[in-house]
Amino acid sequence: MTGSTVRCLEFFSGIGGLHHGVNIAGIGAEVVASFDVNEIANKVYAHNFKKEPSKKTIDRLTTKDIERYQADCWLLSPPCQPYTQGGKMKDMDDPRAKPLLHLIKLLSTLDTKPTYLFLENVKNFEISQSRKELVTQLSALGYEINECLLSPLQFGIPNHRLRYYLTARLRPHTPAGNIDDRTIHTTWPFEKEQAFDVPELADFLEPLNDDDHTFTVPSRYILRLHNFRLGIWIQSYHDQWIITANEEIRDTASLLEFGLRFLTPTEIGRLHAFPMASDSPAPSQEEEAGVPRRFFAPTGLPHLCFPEGVTRQQQYRLLGNSLNCWVVAELLRCVLFK
Ligand SMILES: C[S@@+](CC[C@H](N)C(=O)[O-])C[C@H]1O[C@@H](n2cnc3c(N)ncnc32)[C@H](O)[C@@H]1O
Repeated sequence: MTGSTVRCLEFFSGIGGLHHGVNIAGIGAEVVASFDVNEIANKVYAHNFKKEPSKKTIDRLTTKDIERYQADCWLLSPPCQPYTQGGKMKDMDDPRAKPLLHLIKLLSTLDTKPTYLFLENVKNFEISQSRKELVTQLSALGYEINECLLSPLQFGIPNHRLRYYLTARLRPHTPAGNIDDRTIHTTWPFEKEQAFDVPELADFLEPLNDDDHTFTVPSRYILRLHNFRLGIWIQSYHDQWIITANEEIRDTASLLEFGLRFLTPTEIGRLHAFPMASDSPAPSQEEEAGVPRRFFAPTGLPHLCFPEGVTRQQQYRLLGNSLNCWVVAELLRCVLFK
């Protein structure tokens, strides 16, 4: 480690959800380089963090490319399509799994391995062969591993979005253990679930003019839905998000009168706990290092801001690919860097 700052590499950086997570965690870490092939995501990233990600494809990174950063920590949020129904769950046979598998191999070739590793992915990653490769490699190299499946709702954010997280810390002499016997935590904190107050969804919404129909859900979308359960939940639909109410609806036409609208990119950014320019400073609260905190809207610089020329559709897509910065921050504070 160089000085007291933890040097992080952010792989699959997108719009920098993991970087924001590191900042929110306040763990004295710095992202020294990031990697992504998506030019629009990189443009947003550079606009916010004033540092351009490398657009070299991750599957071509060499040991030398990585070693020059002398990184202590790897942050990874690889593509999720290999593990989703929509992506046909091809797992290791999906070419989009290749960069992750490449990094897993690369890890063993490094003279100095990162002490810390954090990975985020979708539910179902935990049953994949890719995860098996990752956990087997980390165990063989002497990492102590924690895995969990958690939703922002468990952290006090009104958004249900179950995701897989893995934290790994290099601890020589950690026994490898049997990979099939591993616990995947589903409570937060891991030891004993704590009920965090969940603020109203309304607290995350922007006031919109009644005569502004920019975000209105077109009736043809609503009429195409059938028989779905409405909850105070948010449904991703065609890369956009809708807020729905709490009951089972059989007659979708009856939804038309609700005046449903999509969430705005700012609202999705808030629900993903990105620091936003529009948010007022968080109320002060006592916090103890490594102890789970009550959610507050992160503020400060850098915050999430889309540069001119990024269309609303692109903003939705980038946000949809991103992650919950608060959940990342709490797992970093309370598990990986505890
Ligand atoms: C699930 S998203 C991660 C999003 C990110 N955590 C964020 O906060 O926006 C996966 C990212 O991996 C990038 N990606 C996919 N294949 C890649 C490759 N071979 N090399 C570099 N980046 C890649 C995609 O462009 C996408 O931005």
